[in-house]
Amino acid sequence: MDSITPTMPGQAEALALRYGPDAVPPAGPWSDAIALLLGHRSVRAYRPDAPPAGTLETLVAAAQSAATSSNLQTWSVVAVSDPAVRAQLATIAGGQKHIEQCPLFLVWLADLSRLGRIADAEGRTLEGLPYLETFLVASIDAALAAQNAVVAAESLGLSTVYIGALRNDVEAVARLLRLPPGAAGVFGLCVGYAEPAATGEVKPRLPQSAVLHRETYGIGDERAQRAAYDGLMGAFSRRNEMQADTWTERVLARIASIRSLRGRDRLKPALRALGFPLR
Ligand SMILES: Cc1cc2nc3c(=O)[nH]c(=O)nc-3n(C[C@H](O)[C@H](O)[C@H](O)COP(=O)(O)O)c2cc1C
Repeated sequence: MDSITPTMPGQAEALALRYGPDAVPPAGPWSDAIALLLGHRSVRAYRPDAPPAGTLETLVAAAQSAATSSNLQTWSVVAVSDPAVRAQLATIAGGQKHIEQCPLFLVWLADLSRLGRIADAEGRTLEGLPYLETFLVASIDAALAAQNAVVAAESLGLSTVYIGALRNDVEAVARLLRLPPGAAGVFGLCVGYAEPAATGEVKPRLPQSAVLHRETYGIGDERAQRAAYDGLMGAFSRRNEMQADTWTERVLARIASIRSLRGRDRLKPALRALGFPLR
């Protein structure tokens, strides 16, 4: 498997899979890269076979090719292979078994520690470092880098799933990975070859009219859009996950209570303890 899969659907089919048959946007320009992006799906069951030698380094090269705010490069990534550490990370993430199962597990860091070390070495003070803005810069950098790695992995026939649930306990993650102050795991990423039965369908998204605003923000017929999307997602769930949840039900359940944040309601004090004052 060395390139974009030849079995990728054409433009019309790819758009219909992403939006459902009733919300297909007008066709525009198209490329293999766009087809790859539209074919994305998260995978939560992996074969044990490792990707070829050099895959990790290739994914990191793709990650480092992402844009980075002011070229500060305020992110790092930890590749974790130790099964005992993987097991503990899986526990932190609420028992997500794919963290132990996938051949490659990456923890992406918002990493201001390097800038702190540069300042120390140069005998300088970085007054901008303790601000929320700088943490946000680092988190955005980490996300852009990781997404480049995801696209690169998918172009090689690999599958992925992000693991935001590592933020259930960022301090425990920092202890396990021996992170210096000023570095925090913002999410993990499983990478590997999908179990054939686990590839699933492309998960539909909201219609473009819900997310694309022209000139100014407009709510439009949001209720009707949501009802249509609930229908689409309910059917998707029944086909792929044997549940009948609509998108609305899932959204409400995900944010309904402090408990549903699964420890992430403590994120601010936890990040402060890890050396991010978030001023
Ligand atoms: C930052 C981030 C964190 C995520 N965390 C998890 C996670 O902890 N566990 C999981 O199974 N999926 C996780 N996901 C995957 C999303 O659930 C998935 O992307 C979404 O349902 C859309 O499905 P798709 O990626 O197959 O299109 C995460 C995705 C993102 C972007």
